[in-house]
Amino acid sequence: MLKKLLILLYSALLEPLLAKQKQYIAQQIIDEGGGLSLDVCCGIGRQCQMLAPFCTVIGLDLDFTMLKYAHTNAPTVPFVCADAAHLPFKSRVFKHAVVSLALHDKNPSMRSRMLNELSAVGDQQASLVIMDFARPLSCKSKVGHTLIWLIERLAGNDHFTNGREFVKNGGLTTFLSSHSLTIETIKYSAWDNISIIRALFSHAKVTSQHFL
Ligand SMILES: C[S@@+](CC[C@H](N)C(=O)[O-])C[C@H]1O[C@@H](n2cnc3c(N)ncnc32)[C@H](O)[C@@H]1O
Repeated sequence: MLKKLLILLYSALLEPLLAKQKQYIAQQIIDEGGGLSLDVCCGIGRQCQMLAPFCTVIGLDLDFTMLKYAHTNAPTVPFVCADAAHLPFKSRVFKHAVVSLALHDKNPSMRSRMLNELSAVGDQQASLVIMDFARPLSCKSKVGHTLIWLIERLAGNDHFTNGREFVKNGGLTTFLSSHSLTIETIKYSAWDNISIIRALFSHAKVTSQHFL
């Protein structure tokens, strides 16, 4: 019951705030010609819903209740209830993978396992589009971070503690740079508190930055 309430709150309050960012992520994949795509930790399936008219997308999440909502949001999308650390797919099948706000809440070893799994199921030229928190540096971003802090506090102790550690250690850019990925583009939004990074699975080099 509590979980259903949280899902309804997430859907009504947070999803509208993230719509622009998720549309941007979808556009990145559409611009690259679509193809078989995987949304890992898809939650209630909004990203899948945006992608479904343009490409074949599979949503994966560990939480069956989330997936039931996801199915109502995107009835044509196949959803898989599984652990992101043990992806139940053949090697090298996906052209794109999305991980949206689903690294910061995990512990460091789980985050790395997720990237390794994604690397295994992505094809040779697979791209990864990841959205997650950046470390707030300016005064403006610190103000925005306060609101995020409050929302994250409601998400439970483990989630909150992992998220604090993630941001304190440099956020998404630092995390990805410590893995063997080529960072192609970085886009900042939400007063620079959220970064959306498009990366390939090899050596890291930033080629452009934009602001949403
Ligand atoms: C903060 S939500 C993000 C949801 C969605 N990607 C979005 O952007 O709205 C994190 C999601 O990760 C899922 N999750 C947590 N641990 C997982 C695991 N080990 N494997 C797959 N999904 C997991 C949760 O059920 C939740 O839906």
